[in-house]
Amino acid sequence: MRIAVAGGTGTVGRHVVAAAEARGHDVTVLTRRNGHDLETGAGLAGALDGIDAVIDVTSVVSLSGRRAREFFTNVTGNLLRAGADAGVGHHVALSIVGIDGIDDGHYAGKLAQERLVEGGTVPHTIQRATQFLEFAAQVAEQTTFGPLTVIPKALMRPVAAREVGARLLEVAEGEPVGGRARDLAGPRDERLADLVRRMYAFDGVRRGVLEVRFPRPFGKSLATGVVRGGDDALRGRITFDEWLRSPDHVPVRPRREGTRHAVAP
Ligand SMILES: NC(=O)c1ccc[n+]([C@@H]2O[C@H](COP(=O)([O-])OP(=O)(O)OC[C@H]3O[C@@H](n4cnc5c(N)ncnc54)[C@H](OP(=O)(O)O)[C@@H]3O)[C@@H](O)[C@H]2O)c1
Repeated sequence: MRIAVAGGTGTVGRHVVAAAEARGHDVTVLTRRNGHDLETGAGLAGALDGIDAVIDVTSVVSLSGRRAREFFTNVTGNLLRAGADAGVGHHVALSIVGIDGIDDGHYAGKLAQERLVEGGTVPHTIQRATQFLEFAAQVAEQTTFGPLTVIPKALMRPVAAREVGARLLEVAEGEPVGGRARDLAGPRDERLADLVRRMYAFDGVRRGVLEVRFPRPFGKSLATGVVRGGDDALRGRITFDEWLRSPDHVPVRPRREGTRHAVAP
């Protein structure tokens, strides 16, 4: 198949690309660094010609619902228009488990994205996943102030981005569902602050971790654990501690030396 991966250099995108290449697909990566700004549409003309499936794993880093809505609306609108023009047979969008009714922060953008995909003319599947195991590093990267990292109270069931990538490819290879596929969640319930503490201990980083309740519906959804989803989800197998010991974990380095983590929501 010819598969376009929008956001193919990101935390999950790189796993989608690796999985697709390993199975012999012809992969096109659409990112700004590769000359395609999907928010403005620059560089998109002709990029989907001959493409069988688009997998959208783009993202924006912002706590603002307005900005998230704007980003996901623009990117999804551009991808769907270009996909319809090019006759793309399957649009696969990655969304987040448990976000129904939480029209706030990053989730406001994801809900807008889901609505556009569902209302579009390109045959589609929406795959929701829980937070990635990588989420601990993604959050800590943005909430570290000197010797302290402030972490939202969050009860999660995190899943490896590697397993999400493999699942997205499996979905793209199959027939469009015309709605949501079964949710994908991780193997265990975890508390985000504990994950960050374990990651710092593993990486030898001496930094305090303060857990606080984040405000607004977004913060509340993390604290109540509604984003863990239900018992009927598909379950990944890789645990956080296995992931820490794997090459997928990029060690956190002291801030003065910089970090190598991708920054994401
Ligand atoms: N992180 C989680 O725990 C989690 C859990 C479940 C679902 N999700 C969803 O998974 C998706 C991917 O998240 P992630 O954490 O993998 O994101 P990420 O690491 O921040 O990667 C984002 C990707 O999008 C690309 N991108 C950003 N703006 C773009 C633009 N204007 N045009 C083209 N490409 C653009 C980036 O490349 P350039 O910067 O080069 O453009 C990068 O490849 C998001 O939609 C998120 O909602 C995330």
